[in-house]
Amino acid sequence: MANIIAVLNPKGGAGKTTISLHLTRALKEYGSVLMVDSDPQGSARDWSEQGGGELFPVVGVDRAGALKSTIQQISDSYDWVVIDGAAKLEEMAAHAVSIADLVIIPVQPSPLDLWACESLVGQIKQRQIITDGIPTAAFQVSRAKKGTSLAKEIRDVVKEYDLPLLDGNIHDRTIFAKSLSEGLTALDIEPNGVASFEVLHLTKQIVRGFE
Ligand SMILES: Nc1ncnc2c1ncn2[C@@H]1O[C@H](COP(=O)(O)OP(=O)(O)OP(=O)(O)O)[C@@H](O)[C@H]1O
Ligand SMILES: [Mg+2]
Repeated sequence: MANIIAVLNPKGGAGKTTISLHLTRALKEYGSVLMVDSDPQGSARDWSEQGGGELFPVVGVDRAGALKSTIQQISDSYDWVVIDGAAKLEEMAAHAVSIADLVIIPVQPSPLDLWACESLVGQIKQRQIITDGIPTAAFQVSRAKKGTSLAKEIRDVVKEYDLPLLDGNIHDRTIFAKSLSEGLTALDIEPNGVASFEVLHLTKQIVRGFE
């Protein structure tokens, strides 16, 4: 049975697809991987097509009701399944929360972005009560501008939610966007670059949580 990680945030442009693709790529070092594109916009599927589908398989699920059954059917064949969430689709997110072992919530470092996660955090907490703490969940700062420190007010909002904030930021870096436009990831273009380091740091924290 695969470890299932859902990357969710109802806010558009939070960095869900960028983080999902990079995380899936990095998880290849830890076993077989599958990415599930739950966004009808199909960004991850477009990315896969652009790269000739060579790095890892991406399957699309456009109906919320089909997410769970699709993943249940295939998850025995993989070690890691990463679900790229869709903005605004609450029902899809609810299904993802119900099947995930871990939810990563990428947030841009602004209180407004964090407040937008309130209902998602509520869904996660409700689920945790029913299923004995599963899924675990954590915030990941995404698209942080270089040279800016995480403001105290952001830490305060995170504290209110009572979910952990992963260590280290994913910064706003051209290579994240550029690599994806080529059907690749930063790990393929600059494996020893700072962007790759950020992704690997995130990945290690996640893998450690499953040990
Ligand atoms: N760390 C980053 N550095 C630079 N650009 C980024 C970064 N993360 C995301 N972007 C860019 O920001 C935009 C939105 O990112 P992305 O598509 O990953 O967000 P999303 O949460 O999946 O959006 P949606 O809700 O529309 O699915 C894209 O143009 C992407 O290239
Ligand atoms: Mg997306």
